[in-house]
Amino acid sequence: MLIVSISSGKGTNEYSNEAASTTYDPLPQEDDDNDEEKIINPSGCPYIENNPPYDFGLTKNPQSAFLLGSNNFLRQGSFIITDILENWKRKNSSSSSSQKNDTNGNTNSSYISLNDRPPYCFGFTLNDEAVKEAEHRRISKPSSGLGKVETNPASQFLYDVGCLALDELFPGRPIPRFWFLETIARMPYFSYVSMLHLYESFGWLRDPELRKIHYAEEDNELHHLLIMEALGGNALWKDRFLGYHTAIVYYWAVCLLYLITPKAAYEFMALLEAHAVDTYSTFFKENEERLKSLPAPNVAISYYKSADLYLFDDFQVSKSPNTRRPPCDTLYHVFKNICEDETEHVKTMRACMDYTQVGNNIVESPHNRYDENGMGIDEKRKAWLNWSEEVNRACTSEEDF
Ligand SMILES: [Fe+2]
Ligand SMILES: [Fe+2]
Repeated sequence: MLIVSISSGKGTNEYSNEAASTTYDPLPQEDDDNDEEKIINPSGCPYIENNPPYDFGLTKNPQSAFLLGSNNFLRQGSFIITDILENWKRKNSSSSSSQKNDTNGNTNSSYISLNDRPPYCFGFTLNDEAVKEAEHRRISKPSSGLGKVETNPASQFLYDVGCLALDELFPGRPIPRFWFLETIARMPYFSYVSMLHLYESFGWLRDPELRKIHYAEEDNELHHLLIMEALGGNALWKDRFLGYHTAIVYYWAVCLLYLITPKAAYEFMALLEAHAVDTYSTFFKENEERLKSLPAPNVAISYYKSADLYLFDDFQVSKSPNTRRPPCDTLYHVFKNICEDETEHVKTMRACMDYTQVGNNIVESPHNRYDENGMGIDEKRKAWLNWSEEVNRACTSEEDF
């Protein structure tokens, strides 16, 4: 049995991870000849998390855009150069040497090859055809779940092109694919909040409830993203480059679309969220055994099991608070929870689409409609009136004394 983890960062260029507490037993490797070159970390954490998180250059405090941009450029540039050098070294060593080395041609004993790092060491798979079948089932059997997301032809075309691109860009790499999806999935929520701020600044519309729900949705997507980073989804600079640049373009495109037609902006997001449901559900079924053998990352445990789940409840407008408390013991639970979150996002986006057409506070924070005991707004009002009457009576009684 071999225990592999990322611990020191020495010679690993992009990898630096402090130890956590879970022992990890990776999939059996085909090439056992390289065993002695792998790092044995007594703590055996399979994930990239803790002190500091897997940030690849995120600055710790707000600074001028010039400084932030320059630092990021230099840091990401160093990763690109390292990658080029490693490729060059690998080519040279494979053609001229018969010496024993790892898959990247590096003989440094502290080096961890790409296949032994998260996310590739987990051995997860995702069948693109199975994702398409899941989508087909959802659309053809609306009674069994979310059904088809009704949208305009332009959005449907963009969505189809996007799905094809995803299949081409991330073949056999489900975790980087999820990281990319979660990176861009947050953008529309940023856009919605930005546009609602704009409308509010102009004095056209004031809807703090809607802003709060979009913020809660974005917070949920942020935690999906952090989970994917703990699994190594942003390990390659190429994926980060693509993800961040696509996200910027997507943010401004959704802002523009929202200015013209908020309904279409919500429709497109509903399409993406439904695709996320199809993808995650296929993934956790396909990798069930493996996922059940792995622990939940700390960031997932803190999000799904924390004492304060106000924001977690707030984006689920169809549910009353405190009613959804899913387990989070294994990585299987984590992906199932994410899939269920995405289902809630679809429902909320549909509610937002209707809200743009008919208004009437269709989209409202569940905390406004229900209290902790599951009371509806009418019951709450009645209870409040009873309470105020009690107070008045008590005050009157005191005056009588
Ligand atoms: Fe997500
Ligand atoms: Fe989502």
